[in-house]
Amino acid sequence: MRAAGFDFGTSNSAIGIVKGNAATLAPVEGSSTMIPSAVFFDFADHDKPHYGRDAIDAYVNGNDGRLMRGLKTILSTALISERTALSKRAIPLTDVIAMFSRHLRLKAEEALGAPVDAVVHGRPVRFVEGDDAADARAETTLASLARQAGYGEVSFLYEPVAAAAQYEQNVKQEEIVLVADIGGGTSDFSIVRIGPGRDRASDRRDDILANTGVRVGGTDFDRNLSLAAVMPLFGLGTELVDKQLPMPRSIFDDLAWWPTINLCYTPKIQREAEEIHRLAVEQEKTARLLAVLSKHLGHRIAFAAEQAKIDLTADDSASVGLAFVEAGLAAPMTRETFDEAIASELTRLRLAVWNCLALADVDAENVDTVFMTGGSSLVPAVEAVVRDEIPNASFKRGDDFLSVGLGLTLEAQARYA
Ligand SMILES: Nc1ncnc2c1ncn2[C@@H]1O[C@H](COP(=O)(O)OP(=O)(O)OP(=O)(O)O)[C@@H](O)[C@H]1O
Ligand SMILES: [Mg+2]
Repeated sequence: MRAAGFDFGTSNSAIGIVKGNAATLAPVEGSSTMIPSAVFFDFADHDKPHYGRDAIDAYVNGNDGRLMRGLKTILSTALISERTALSKRAIPLTDVIAMFSRHLRLKAEEALGAPVDAVVHGRPVRFVEGDDAADARAETTLASLARQAGYGEVSFLYEPVAAAAQYEQNVKQEEIVLVADIGGGTSDFSIVRIGPGRDRASDRRDDILANTGVRVGGTDFDRNLSLAAVMPLFGLGTELVDKQLPMPRSIFDDLAWWPTINLCYTPKIQREAEEIHRLAVEQEKTARLLAVLSKHLGHRIAFAAEQAKIDLTADDSASVGLAFVEAGLAAPMTRETFDEAIASELTRLRLAVWNCLALADVDAENVDTVFMTGGSSLVPAVEAVVRDEIPNASFKRGDDFLSVGLGLTLEAQARYA
């Protein structure tokens, strides 16, 4: 059977194939083996779908249409049964996921030169926290979407276990590793016993000592940064003329989070925003909110917030550029303010590491290596939390964006080849 390993990420995706005896990632956009998990429907061209960087560029260039990002997150929320409006019809959000998945399957087949029948699909340790039934439903939904995308056979592997398999390829001796995969939508941890040759055992269950996962990731960091620095420029936290009425938050919350941005572009929300503007004390700010909604600039704001967050990985201060809303408009941000804005998320990460150690019944001193992967593991405050919990381990990184995809492909080779 010909099998692929598919890392469907909240922010970025990759797909791998087994060619000859080697597991490799397929080029998915030009020569790149990574593609942003984004779909854009072009209203001027019969709702034609664009994928990845191409989708983002079409949106940023101002084409009339609908951009979808953060699609994986909807698997964990009530949005799973929602539709999104295209130019003349509305389609289920689940169909958009299946289209994206099919697009990548076709890329894998192109690279392989043959049809792919089976897939090892990555999944976070928890789609839904604290509700096993809902978590299982999310996996069932994803499996049926993978079949809709054309795979006959679908099985799953925890994303951090996949990353451990990839890391294991290069180790020289047996070790206990804690994998920390901090992505766009979730943070996942596994404690695994690895070593040269161990991957040949048919059953590795005893080597996987514990897995924990929380729904915390880079898209949450973007939202918190936006709520702290950007949304106040659009009226969040300002007063209404009638002091009895507080400024409603929900529009700002939805506008600041990738998966909910499109919910803001309905006539109902437009009317609500006009009412807010009519009553606002600082109308120069709410006027910007009206402009953002009518010009569908929500994703532009999210990209700008994400870019400022990434800048804060290297620098102590950054600025969210908002000139596309108003000439000269920008929101300054310091690393310190950003760390404060994500404090509760950092606490949840700390607890997840702690729980993983407890479940594995391993003391922090007995973890030999911490393998950090996922784009959000680059956030200095995130790395600091993990170092703080496991101070004596050696810290290693692979490719922050590709380890999971490669690990899933190695597993596809083991399961199906
Ligand atoms: N240099 C950086 N500093 C901080 N964050 C970064 C950096 N580079 C990328 N990111 C963030 O990493 C996240 C994407 O990481 P990644 O591609 O690992 O996630 P994903 O696999 O798509 O998501 P998930 O596994 O949670 O479904 C985004 O939120 C992005 O903004
Ligand atoms: Mg990931």
